[in-house]
Amino acid sequence: MERCSARNNGAVMGGERARCSGLWYAVDGVGMDVVIIGAGGHGMVVLDIIGQLPRRRVVGFLDADEGLAGRRVGGVKVLGTINQLPKLRRRGVRGVIVAIGDNRARLHHMKEVRSAGLKLLNAVHPRAVVSESATLGENVVIAAGAVVCVAAKIGDGAIINTSAVVDHECTVGAGAHICPAAALAGRVVVGEGAFVGLGARVIQCLRVGAWSTVGAGAVVIADLDEGAKAVGVPARVI
Ligand SMILES: CC(C)(COP(=O)(O)OP(=O)(O)OC[C@H]1O[C@@H](n2cnc3c(N)ncnc32)[C@H](O)[C@@H]1OP(=O)(O)O)[C@@H](O)C(=O)NCCC(=O)NCCS
Repeated sequence: MERCSARNNGAVMGGERARCSGLWYAVDGVGMDVVIIGAGGHGMVVLDIIGQLPRRRVVGFLDADEGLAGRRVGGVKVLGTINQLPKLRRRGVRGVIVAIGDNRARLHHMKEVRSAGLKLLNAVHPRAVVSESATLGENVVIAAGAVVCVAAKIGDGAIINTSAVVDHECTVGAGAHICPAAALAGRVVVGEGAFVGLGARVIQCLRVGAWSTVGAGAVVIADLDEGAKAVGVPARVI
């Protein structure tokens, strides 16, 4: 996890610069050729975000589905499977975002990208609001309208999806997905790989266990164990 603050001269951050050890430096693929792994729905969201950021170029998608090779998704070509990574690296591609919706698969492919010596990039929509004091890992996606509040910590590979709210001092674990319009109140801790469904709410100071699932529209009012699945208002474990 990158330990730098998510600063960008103000609260709204489009992934342009970050401060680390007092130095401003370019992050998130400014000037880089970028490849997106995963040509599905989440891949299209990430393509759209990168398209809104200056000086980044998506050169193609990679996807496990060999049948997609040669097709275009959102106007961008699918170049093949992840096996193409070394070849792309030789051609000068340096930045990758793994944009697979499945939390386990996303974390798995992130390891492969690291092993191939490529940089995992973040994609923060220019109209997301990220506190200056929030910290972001790598391969973090923050979609349009999402709000990440003061002192929140977002782990590697996490997705903060469209209009989701991660309130003050929350921790979102690696590979977790906070779905569109979901909201975490202050000081919630979401474990690795957890899935907080569409429009779900988690009240303050709770722990949502690793690899647990919160159903769409649920209101969580008690801690959830690792691997639990909870639905409804108030949420009950099923
Ligand atoms: C929670 C969820 C994962 C459960 O899926 P599942 O394991 O296949 O469960 P089932 O569909 O078999 O449903 C099991 C029971 O839970 C109920 N249930 C399922 N999801 C529910 C929900 N979101 N709210 C209330 N009840 C729900 C079902 O009605 C069923 O009840 P019953 O046993 O009384 O008939 C799924 O329904 C869900 O909400 N997914 C989130 C989708 C989402 O947020 N997508 C956004 C993607 S970006």
